[in-house]
Amino acid sequence: MSKKTIIGIIAIIILVAIIGVIYFLGGNSNTGDETSQTISDSNVRFSNAEENNAGANTENQTEPTTTNEGLKTLIVYFSVPETDSPDNMTQDEENSTVVVNGEVLGNTQYVAQLISRYTGGDLFRLEPVDAYPTNHEELLQRAADEMRSDVRPEINSTIENFEEYDVIFVGYPIWNADLPPIINTFLEQYNFEGKTVVPFCTHGGSGLAGTPRTIANKLSNSNVIQNGFSLSRSNMESAETEVESWLQEIYN
Ligand SMILES: Cc1cc2nc3c(=O)[nH]c(=O)nc-3n(C[C@H](O)[C@H](O)[C@H](O)COP(=O)(O)O)c2cc1C
Repeated sequence: MSKKTIIGIIAIIILVAIIGVIYFLGGNSNTGDETSQTISDSNVRFSNAEENNAGANTENQTEPTTTNEGLKTLIVYFSVPETDSPDNMTQDEENSTVVVNGEVLGNTQYVAQLISRYTGGDLFRLEPVDAYPTNHEELLQRAADEMRSDVRPEINSTIENFEEYDVIFVGYPIWNADLPPIINTFLEQYNFEGKTVVPFCTHGGSGLAGTPRTIANKLSNSNVIQNGFSLSRSNMESAETEVESWLQEIYN
């Protein structure tokens, strides 16, 4: 092998090593930026919870995560986005959805994700065995039928280690000025004794419609926060700031 060839090989090896180091550092600093952006923009007292809870936002939860408030926090929610396509939405579809980075989320689902981001709590989405229709008229009809007959729609999966959580956020859209029936299934299926329960909702004008009191009446042996959160579907763009200031209020 000539001297030139050897020098050439060494140069290639050094080049590959340099590219590798740049790629590695670049990848890490990206992750760091995303985290610090989320965290440093927030003044919430427990806002660095994410550092302790990598993966806390992943739906659905597996092992309970402890936030840096020292509390195991779970965000359980129900949400029915009326489409999964961000294109050519009807007014009804727009009303029930938020598009975040091209992903279609239900209004309540989006609020639940924000609460998880700020608190570091785990997420769990309540889904019925018999899925709700995404067609608006059919959904209204099914909701009306279920509420008239006071049914308890079966939930398609169970929450692991529910007993280990201290704080349970419970989120739902207001349906016919009340809790959606699947929330009743959830409240009756688990033991809430000694837990702090924090209601939140999205709505089309009714606000919380007395649902924190309804929940407190059902869960007589837990502490149901009455200062629940409500956000109108017409104000979804202010969700981040509204959620953050509400959390500051209830944690201070
Ligand atoms: C079956 C049904 C009943 C509703 N009833 C009410 C109501 O009584 N009051 C109200 O303010 N909004 C009502 N809404 C509007 C929803 O609460 C609102 O669009 C909510 O943000 C939907 O959240 P989601 O996308 O997480 O499902 C109703 C929506 C549906 C589908």
